[in-house]
Amino acid sequence: MINIISQLEEKRAAARMGGGQRRLDAQHSKGKLTARERIHALLDEGSFEEWDMFVEHRCHDFGMEENKIPGDGVVIGYGTIFGRPVFVYSQDFTVLGGSLSETHAAKICKVMDQAIKAGIPIIGLNDSGGARIQEGVASLGGYAEVFQRNVLASGVVPQISLIMGPCAGGAVYSPAITDFIFMVEGSSYMFVTGPDVVKTVTHEDLTADELGGAKMHSRTSGVAHGTFANDIEMLMRTRELMSYLPLSNRDEAPVYEAMDPLDRPSVVLEQIIPDNPNAPYDMKHIINEIVDNGEMFEIHKDFASNVICAFARIDGRTVGIVANQPLVLAGCLDINASRKAARFVRFCDAFEIPLVTLVDVPGFMPGLSQETGGIISQGAKLLYAYAEATVPKVTLITRKAYGGAYDVMASKHLRGDVNYAWPTAEIAVMGPEGAARIIFRDDADDADKLKERTDEYREKFANPFVAAGRGYIDDIIMPRNSRRRIGRALEMLRDKELSNPPKKHDNLPL
Ligand code: HXC
Repeated sequence: MINIISQLEEKRAAARMGGGQRRLDAQHSKGKLTARERIHALLDEGSFEEWDMFVEHRCHDFGMEENKIPGDGVVIGYGTIFGRPVFVYSQDFTVLGGSLSETHAAKICKVMDQAIKAGIPIIGLNDSGGARIQEGVASLGGYAEVFQRNVLASGVVPQISLIMGPCAGGAVYSPAITDFIFMVEGSSYMFVTGPDVVKTVTHEDLTADELGGAKMHSRTSGVAHGTFANDIEMLMRTRELMSYLPLSNRDEAPVYEAMDPLDRPSVVLEQIIPDNPNAPYDMKHIINEIVDNGEMFEIHKDFASNVICAFARIDGRTVGIVANQPLVLAGCLDINASRKAARFVRFCDAFEIPLVTLVDVPGFMPGLSQETGGIISQGAKLLYAYAEATVPKVTLITRKAYGGAYDVMASKHLRGDVNYAWPTAEIAVMGPEGAARIIFRDDADDADKLKERTDEYREKFANPFVAAGRGYIDDIIMPRNSRRRIGRALEMLRDKELSNPPKKHDNLPL
C-alpha cells in the first residue's frame, strides 16, 4: 500500500511540473502565472478538486509517443469562489504551448458537461498556441466539441473566458460565444489570423498587439469586456464579478446584507442636472448615489462609453444597470452602444437579474457611417432585447428621452414595470429647437421668433407631465429619493411572473 501511495504521489508531482522547470521559468519570465498558480489565485484556498491529471494524448505521429506529459496541457476541475462552486479549466502553456489535442478538448468538455448538468458556472483560462499541429483534424474536431457545449451552456450557466496568453485561429470562437471575455494587458492577444498571414494577404504590417491586443479588443472591436494589468488583478476582479452572478438560470444571484440604508436620501442628486439642457454631466455620479455603497462592476468600460452597463446591488440584491452617458457623444445610441447594451440586457434576462435603466438620450446617432454600418438592425437589437426581457424592469428618465430612443430605453410600451422621471425630464419626439424649426419653418430664419417657438415647444412637450398624464410615466419623483423609489419598486417586483409566447427560438436581428 505504501508503495502504491508513493507511486501516486510521484505521478502527481510529475503532472504538477507540467512542461518542466525550464518552461515554468519561461512562463514566469513573461510576467505570467502558471496554469495551476492561476487556479489557486482564482479559487478559495484549498477548494480546488482536480480531475484528469493523468490523461495523456493518444497521438503517434511526429514522434509524439515519446512526448507525453500527464494532463496533456490543461488543468481541469472545480472549486469555490466566496464559498460558491465553479468549474474551471486552465490551459498550461508549458505543455506543448497549451495546444489543444483531442484529449485536451475532451477534458474541457468533461467539465462543461458537468457544469451544465449541475448548474454551475464555467471559467476558462486560455493560454494556448491553438490546434495541436501534430494531431490535425482530431484537434479541429476537439474545438468543435467545445464550441457545441459553449452554445448549449449559453443562458444556462454563466461562462467567463480569461485570455491570459495567445488565443488565435478558430480557438477564438469558444471565448466569443461565452458571456464575458477579459484580457491581460501586454501578455494576451486574440485574432482569427496572425500578423504573418495578414501581411501576406492584405500587406498590413502589424504587431500581434496591434492586431489583437487587449487595448484593441476592449476599445475598438468590443470583443473583450474588460482588461486588467496582470494575471493577479484579472483573477481577483473575476472573483468580484462572480459575487454578482447566479450559479445558473435556475438559481438566484447571491443576496448580501445591505449595509447601505435603502431610504438614504441623496440631496446631491438635485444639483447634478445642469441648467443648460445641452451641457453634459457624469451619469456615473447618479449611479453611485443609487446603488449600494457606490459600488459597481462595469462591463465594457472602455467600449462605447456613451452607454454604461454595470452590475451593482440595490438593498443587497444584484441589478443590471444600463444608463446613457451624456459625457460621451451626448449619450446618443450608436451602433456600438446598441450592441453593447443589447448583449448585457440579454445576459441579465437569461439569468433573472432585474434591469435598472437610467435614461438621458437625445436619440440614435445620425450620420452616413452609422447608416452604412447598419444602425437600423444594430439599434433594433437593443429594442429587441428590452422588449423580450421578462425580468423586472425599472426605468428612470433623468433628462432627455427623445424619439425612438425613448421607446427603446425600457419604456412603458416595452413592458417597463415601473417608469419614473425626474422633474427635469424632457420626453418628446425630438429636442425643442429641432422641433420648432420643422413645425414653424417660416420662423426658422428669425432668431427671436425661433427662440419664442422653441420655448413654446419646450413648455408644451419637453417635460415629464405629458407622458405622466398618459400613464407612460408612473410618477415624477424627487431626485433625492431615487434610491428608495427604485429599491422599493424592485422589492415589489421580486416575484414578478411574465412569459413570452412559446417558440422554438426567436430571430433577433443579428
Ligand atoms: C503543437 C505547439 C503549438 C501548436 C506552440 N507549440 N504551438 N505545439 N501545436 N499549435 C509548442 C512549441 O513547439 C514549443 O514547444 C512550445 O509550444 C512553446 O512555443 P514557442 O513557439 O516556443 O512559444 P512562443 O515563442 O511564446 O510563441 C507562442 C506562439 C507560437 C505564438 C503561440 O508557438 C506559435 O505561433 N504557435 C503556432 C500557432 C498556430 O499556428 N497554431 C495553429 C493555429 S490554427 P517546445 O517543445 O519548444 O517547448 C488553429 C485552428 C483552430 O488553431 C481551428 C478551430 C476551429
